Amino acid sequence: MYIFAVFFMAVALVAVTFAWPQESVPRIHIKHHDMGQKFLGNESHVEHFKLLERTGTSMLIGARNTIYNISLHNLAEIPDQRVQWPSSDTHRELCCLKGRSEDECQNYVRVFGRYSPDKFIACGTNAYNPQCMHFGFQNGVHVPEKDTVEGRGLCPYDPEHNSTAVFAGGQLYAATVADFSGGEPLIYRLPIRTERSDLNQLNGPNFVSSLAYDDYVFFFYRETAVEYMNCGKAVYSRVGRVCRHDKGGPHAFSDRWTSFLKARLNCSVPGDYPFYFNEIQSTSDVTEGIYAGEQTQLIYGVFTTPVNSIGGSAVCAFTMRSVLEVFQGAFKEQETINSNWLRVVPEKVPEPRPGACVNDSRTLPDVTVNFVKAHPLMDEAVQPFFSLPVITKVSFNYRFTKIAVDPQVKALDGKAYDILYIGTDEGRVLKALNTQAVNTREKVAQVIVSDVQVLKYGQPVKDLQIVHLAGEASKLVVIADSEIRAIPLHYCDTLAANSCASCVGLQDPHCAWDAMTKRCVAVPNKLHDNDAAKTSFQDIATGKHKGCGYDQELAKPAQPVVPPRAGCCEQPDERDNEIVIELDRENQYSRTQPRANEPQGVIVTPVVYSAQTLTGALLGTCLFSLLAGFASGFWFSQRLRGTGYPDPPEQRQQLNRLTEGPESPGYNNKSINLVLNVPPKNPNGKNANSSAENKPMQKVKKTYI
Ligand SMILES: *[C@@H]1O[C@H](CO)[C@@H](O)[C@H](O)[C@H]1NC(C)=O
Ligand SMILES: *[C@@H]1O[C@H](CO)[C@@H](O)[C@H](O)[C@H]1NC(C)=O
Ligand SMILES: *[C@@H]1O[C@H](CO)[C@@H](O)[C@H](O)[C@H]1NC(C)=O
Ligand SMILES: *[C@@H]1O[C@H](CO)[C@@H](O)[C@H](O)[C@H]1NC(C)=O
Ligand SMILES: *[C@@H]1O[C@H](CO)[C@@H](O)[C@H](O)[C@H]1NC(C)=O
Repeated sequence: MYIFAVFFMAVALVAVTFAWPQESVPRIHIKHHDMGQKFLGNESHVEHFKLLERTGTSMLIGARNTIYNISLHNLAEIPDQRVQWPSSDTHRELCCLKGRSEDECQNYVRVFGRYSPDKFIACGTNAYNPQCMHFGFQNGVHVPEKDTVEGRGLCPYDPEHNSTAVFAGGQLYAATVADFSGGEPLIYRLPIRTERSDLNQLNGPNFVSSLAYDDYVFFFYRETAVEYMNCGKAVYSRVGRVCRHDKGGPHAFSDRWTSFLKARLNCSVPGDYPFYFNEIQSTSDVTEGIYAGEQTQLIYGVFTTPVNSIGGSAVCAFTMRSVLEVFQGAFKEQETINSNWLRVVPEKVPEPRPGACVNDSRTLPDVTVNFVKAHPLMDEAVQPFFSLPVITKVSFNYRFTKIAVDPQVKALDGKAYDILYIGTDEGRVLKALNTQAVNTREKVAQVIVSDVQVLKYGQPVKDLQIVHLAGEASKLVVIADSEIRAIPLHYCDTLAANSCASCVGLQDPHCAWDAMTKRCVAVPNKLHDNDAAKTSFQDIATGKHKGCGYDQELAKPAQPVVPPRAGCCEQPDERDNEIVIELDRENQYSRTQPRANEPQGVIVTPVVYSAQTLTGALLGTCLFSLLAGFASGFWFSQRLRGTGYPDPPEQRQQLNRLTEGPESPGYNNKSINLVLNVPPKNPNGKNANSSAENKPMQKVKKTYI
């Protein structure tokens, strides 16, 4: 009996392991990158850089008491364009009196909107007293136009608060907090806002991005899930939506949205028990292209597991169509405080449809407005376009923070691929793609082309911008709290691949092997040259090209090329195609003194685990706990025979709290597994979650929630 169960568990385990998407080993790994352009701002303090606006050749960066105008050609500040905007002494003193530090009591510029080429509005934290200011352009410099205006509800108090704002149709839409202590979140557009302290609408949200699309403004965020019915709490990712023409409700609702709705975003690895990446961290711009033979618009999102659980990150893609459709679907409700969250039957939904965009929302009937206020949550989640996350990464060292997409990069075979640049919380940038995106939604083949430590170890990547300028090499601008750096979009010719096999092995649409010159070259240079296509080798799907003549190529040891200004120590790696380049840590940073208000992180050398190691470790751990569970279960069953097991209903209840939701399939028919896996110290089922789901990842996640 036990033997059978163990066998069953082992089989299930193996099945689960294979369902997990195959992680890719980076083809190029650059341990330190200190080449190229950078902007550090005023190095005597942390600037909290925030991209405000990007134009053709420059970008405006909000910082401490300052707005910088930075050239995209070289990341240098454009002379005489700096806007100085400090808080007044009164505001600073008041802020200090309220117990904030001197660094907090400064004006960090966070929010921006442009009315015309020479008029804009900007908002700053203003020493914990947010304010906005209109600026005009006179005699080549920016000057404040009018007195400051109230910034409460538009701009956060704390420069680190997870807020977002977007300027559309001459108005600012902001998702932030409206009080000093940060306890009153809201989505706001003068004069309309979400309800105060209504947990159905917003429940401890962390806003990550916003965008105007069609008649709507969308907000992406994560929040504590009201509909999560089990013990403890869970954070879900959301997309919220308001109509741009919302004029507020009738009568007493005149300053409340009549169109705020939200839905869950589902980024998960499917299975009997899907593994969820529940916490959204950022989104890309909307990209348009052909995916799985379909012309559609996608938005990519970065999702992670909670901070205190195993470090998992994923990128999922959603079509804008599926986002719009979810808001046409059923609503969700909890009829009484103790009932389940269920779909609202269509007969109970009033006319006109709650939340729909109308010409004049002030004429809506009360019943519609009341309904939308009480039912902001949609029943269905937005499902991802591809059946699996596009990229997944399990790492003890880092999580993804930010994503930028170079959309529809044409490869030599004429197919177009979205190239994803993904920033992490310890300063890396991964370049990745799904080589199957063109062909199918059902399968995902992830390739990580490069993994570059761009920032000082431990500095999170806050923003990424892809810059294509005529006549210059394209680049990726990486923005962190105190530094802005540029790296190339690809490493074809600079350092990576000096043999046909390693160049093709990059599987990088940007790079191809030119058999004539025997060099790895950037593709766009060659694309329209038909003859060149015959002597250029590339294969995105397989990373192998018969033109390379593998037998001879493989005989030669691969010699990594020394990058410009590199220090030392290249080590060829035993893994296929991977080139590890370590630059000298000493040369790495011109800035050696930490900034005054910079957290003094410990410098740790990152450890890189391959997917195989991890899978091995996981399997090992699982098998071990399986055996331990078996042994202890057996021991207890012998020992407790006669004294009896704990009450089955009680046990079931314990389990109940641990399963994902009311829709979870039954578990009680698996009680044999439970007995098997009760950990040694805890025979009464308290840790039953470690068994019930045969699933290593989920098990760990739930333990730590
Ligand atoms: C940097 O900021 C400090 C105040 O924190 C100021 O005194 C100094 O002049 C600034 N330096 C530059 C180069 O702007
Ligand atoms: C930033 O500098 C560029 C280049 O001089 C200029 O064209 C642009 O108007 C400036 N932007 C702002 C907002 O000052
Ligand atoms: C904001 O988001 C970051 C990144 O996810 C997180 O580490 C931080 O705790 C969040 N801030 C707050 C106040 O929750
Ligand atoms: C999320 O997606 C997975 C896999 O496609 C599916 O099994 C699961 O039911 C979905 N969850 C929700 C809440 O829609
Ligand atoms: C809304 O206004 C537009 C013109 O402003 C009009 O054509 C349309 O019929 C109106 N729709 C409704 C539902 O009133």
